[in-house]
Amino acid sequence: MKVSFLDLKRIDEGLKDALKSKFATMLDAGVFSGGEELRLLESHVSRYLGSPYSIACANGTDALELALRALDVGSGDEVIVPALTWVSTAEVVKVVGAKPVFWDTDEDGLLAADWGKAITERTKAVIPVHLYGKMQDMESLLFQAQKHKLYVIEDAAQSFGSFAAGKAAGTFGDVGCLSFYPTKNLGALGEAGMCLTDSDLLNERIRRLLNHGQVVRDEHVEVGRNSRMDSVQAGFLNVFLQEFTNLQQRRKQLAAQYLDGLGAIAELKLPSGVMESSHNAHLFVVQTLFRDELKSFLADHEIGTAIHYPKILPDMQSYECKGDFAKARKLSQNGLSLPLNPWLKTEEVDYVISKVKEFFNQKSMDVKKQL
Ligand SMILES: Cc1ncc(COP(=O)(O)O)c(C=O)c1O
Repeated sequence: MKVSFLDLKRIDEGLKDALKSKFATMLDAGVFSGGEELRLLESHVSRYLGSPYSIACANGTDALELALRALDVGSGDEVIVPALTWVSTAEVVKVVGAKPVFWDTDEDGLLAADWGKAITERTKAVIPVHLYGKMQDMESLLFQAQKHKLYVIEDAAQSFGSFAAGKAAGTFGDVGCLSFYPTKNLGALGEAGMCLTDSDLLNERIRRLLNHGQVVRDEHVEVGRNSRMDSVQAGFLNVFLQEFTNLQQRRKQLAAQYLDGLGAIAELKLPSGVMESSHNAHLFVVQTLFRDELKSFLADHEIGTAIHYPKILPDMQSYECKGDFAKARKLSQNGLSLPLNPWLKTEEVDYVISKVKEFFNQKSMDVKKQL
């Protein structure tokens, strides 16, 4: 059996038909920028996530950059970001001319609770990342941020559909940023992203910035850019959004299957909180000291896995920063993402489980032989 990490060709036929028919309708309507589908997407997301404003933009990286710019974060400012995340979180801080200040994560990859120690008089904002779909404890983070008058931008790129006590990831901070990159739980058939906010002023400013600083046609009141979402992507997202609850249910079923099947392996740390509503099971990241061996064993048995992420940002040339970052580093060395997506079959997850077990059985026999 062959199990890909993620094969988007497998989107089920009913959904493919709905997407094709949406495209045909949009082609006939001839509206490829702005229009009804965008308006619908924004209002559907607002309703689903309970966000007063949802602002569609070109991708998740732009959403983060727009948030920083709308909050006037720039040269001379510091922004606290976790040491382990997708590069966009820190990249945008540099792009607006500010300085990313890296802080360690906890064992699950979330900004460590003592991040407040990184605050200086230059700190203007903090960007918690709901990594792998698991939510940061936002209550305590907001408490700390408010005490120091810091803006909070939530990087909710991986956590669409995670809710803590009924409140959605991305709706806690000043701005929440979503990515609809195709591999995400709610993914487009191309690039797309969104900003969430409850502020009238930020809503207006972000909308203006993503459309060339334009208020009315040909009135450019500030320097903006073009970060508008493609209308066809909005149309596709409206189709996916209708199926979202079912797709999430399937993801959680498969996650439960993994937890059940792999729970007895002492050398394997399973992700925490995956079955809770505050985790959307975006990624299923296990941790083991034998990560690289396990990855290649699974590859030998045609099972695709991934590493999110193999290197912490402070170790990269463009972001170089001295520091220990012990937990983030450990996760980057030991973490392995097993295939988890709604298109997987139960038998395929069983196969992955059996091969992971086989690997650790062999490992313990090797150890016994050496004794
Ligand atoms: C944590 C995180 N932040 C930001 C982004 C950026 O989103 P996009 O790829 O849509 O620009 C991603 C997605 O790749 C992400 O995983």
